Parts: sequence; structure tokens; C-alpha cells
Amino acid sequence: MKNKIVPDASSTKNIMAKLRLPKAGTIEVVPSILSSDFARLADEIAEIESAGVNMVHLDVMDGNFVPNITIGPPVIAKLRKYSNLVFDSHLMISQPAKYIERFADAGANHITFHIEVADHPEKLIDRLHKLGCTAGICLNPETPVEAIEKIAPLCDMVLVMTVHPGFGAQEFMPEAAKKIVRVREIIGPDIRVEVDGGIDSQTTPIVVSYGADTLVAGNAIFAKPDRIAAINAIRAAIK
Ligand code: DX5
Ligand code: ZN
Repeated sequence: MKNKIVPDASSTKNIMAKLRLPKAGTIEVVPSILSSDFARLADEIAEIESAGVNMVHLDVMDGNFVPNITIGPPVIAKLRKYSNLVFDSHLMISQPAKYIERFADAGANHITFHIEVADHPEKLIDRLHKLGCTAGICLNPETPVEAIEKIAPLCDMVLVMTVHPGFGAQEFMPEAAKKIVRVREIIGPDIRVEVDGGIDSQTTPIVVSYGADTLVAGNAIFAKPDRIAAINAIRAAIK
């Protein structure tokens, strides 16, 4: 039985001041909580934090944009007290413009919305920056890179989906991953490229060779009894 963790003593404000998306130039393994035990979320996050990751990927689903429902701002606000990791919040929701302030108030540091449901993406990015968050834009597998060509340079990170969003443990889509190459061409080296879906020690070398530097992995980490070993296996596959 693992020890129960206790909330961090420092105030949420102090924690937020420290938390920033790591500067581009490093490769980050970012565990996605979707395959974790949601009844023990704070403990699950503490375990991956002990592996030295800098970020945790929080999958937010509304049952409308995707056919699944997960967590929202109230859960993120509670988790904020227990973790010093950058909260990389992936909003798989139909109305991101309606909710971003609530996610920022809850303690999300980086907020990604989907281009498929953003009427004025440049305005959303601006609002996120004014809220003190970094901004991400996400592309579904069937969405062409052209859809983000103009606004990608305004973001802090571009997220390329390599599965259809909604569920963990799906098969990696090699054709979708190829879009990373074009995304990297557009944004250059100073903006992060995140990849999400089917990332493990087999697919990691492929997406890194395309130019991804932020590797989201759910099933490859949380389905394993030893999460730290699983994170290290992905790190070892980065060439
Ligand atoms: C899927 C989510 C992913 C998911 C990835 O819609 O956005 O973050 O957790 O899971 P794996 O790594 O299992 O494909
Ligand atoms: Zn995700």
C-alpha cells in the first residue's frame, strides 16, 4: 500500500509562479492520466512526479466533441494542491471559448484547444496568454496542417493527434504522425511540438525523428505496474 500524499504547503499562487512550459529544446515525456486510476489521481501523479517528469497531461472530455467524459476544472483545482508539475490540459471540448478562464483559475498552466472547434483561434490564444497560461492548438488525425498554418506561430505548443481523440490505448496512426514534419517546418525550433496517441518505446523514435519534442503517453505508462520504469523505457527510445 502506497503512502497517502499530503497537499503541498505552499500556496497555489506560489506554485503557479514556478510553473512554466519547459523551454523548447528538450524532449519531455508527458504522462497522460487517462489510463491511470482516477480514484487515486493525486497518488498516481505523485508517482510520475518522482520519475522526474516536468509535466502531466490532463485529458478533459465533454461527451460532445469526443464520445467520452473525464474531468473538469473542479478536479484540476483539487489536484493543483498536490502537485508541482506543469498541468498540460488537453481540452477535448466543443466550446473551449466558454471555459478557458475556469481552467486557468483551476490551475492549468498550459491549455490546448482543438482547431476543429475554434471560431477565432487567435483570440483564444491571446486570452490564454492574458490569463498567464501558455497556449496550445491541436489537430485531429484527419485535420490538415493548413488549418493551423497561420496561427501555429502564435502558440507555445502544437499538438498533433496520432489517434482519434477520446480513448487511451488505441493504435498509433503513422500517416497522422507524418504531419509533425510540416508542423515543425512552419513553427521552427522555438515552439514545442507535442504528439498524443499510441506513444511508446516503439513509436517514440519515429515521432522524434519527425521533430516532436513533447511525448504524451498514457497506456504505455499507466498500464504498467512500474510507471517509473515505463517512463525510463520511453526516454531510452529517444535517439
Ligand atoms: C486520447 C487522449 C490521450 C490519451 C493517449 O484522446 O488525448 O492523451 O491518453 O493515450 P495513449 O498514450 O494510451 O494512446
Ligand atoms: Zn490528450
